[in-house]
Amino acid sequence: MIDQKTLDKIELEALKRNIPVMQKEGLDFMISLLNEEKAMTLLEIGSAIGYSAMRLVTNVEQLTVETIELDDERFLEARKNIDQYGLQDQIYLHHDNALTFDESQLVLKNFDALFIDAAKAQYQRFFEKYIPYIKENGVVIVDNLDFHGMVDHIEEIRSRNTRQLVKKIKRFRDWIFDHELYDAHYYPVGDGIVVVRRKETS
Ligand SMILES: C[S@@+](CC[C@H](N)C(=O)[O-])C[C@H]1O[C@@H](n2cnc3c(N)ncnc32)[C@H](O)[C@@H]1O
Repeated sequence: MIDQKTLDKIELEALKRNIPVMQKEGLDFMISLLNEEKAMTLLEIGSAIGYSAMRLVTNVEQLTVETIELDDERFLEARKNIDQYGLQDQIYLHHDNALTFDESQLVLKNFDALFIDAAKAQYQRFFEKYIPYIKENGVVIVDNLDFHGMVDHIEEIRSRNTRQLVKKIKRFRDWIFDHELYDAHYYPVGDGIVVVRRKETS
């Protein structure tokens, strides 16, 4: 097991080393939401060093997380962290590109929740690829939809690359908010979180 103090330390260390981990405020929001939903299974896209997965399984009752990380070094560090704190039965970690990952490798076959926290330009592709594995009444959580406040001020962004990225984030936001099958709600928490659920069909 891992305690909150150790988790705080891992977060601080990650930030010092410029490893992008979810902001505390955003994670607290997710913890409340997942506890309310009584979620028992979560699929995470983008593990980094396993910090969010460890924070979530420690604070959400009976939660198991399955998570995918592309980067070699981060994957190895996540593996080490999960093993060190004996969380192998609560966190299943894959080393792969989530865009091309073979879903038959998933240990858990369907999930109460999906958490998208990887390459921001690919949010729609992640969403479309993994939504079939989320239960009918499941919930999708997407982080970083403000992108440091830039999404609503694209014209002020000087860097061409950043502008392109922020345009893609905005495109995802517009796409999901206009979608006929899903209800999306924006929460001004952390760097902007959107919670998506399937619309009820009558
Ligand atoms: C914001 S970090 C994840 C932070 C983590 N969820 C946390 O809060 O502790 C995003 C991670 O997604 C990974 N990533 C980017 N593209 C990916 C892909 N196509 N498949 C899997 N992981 C990807 C990056 O290597 C990076 O470590």
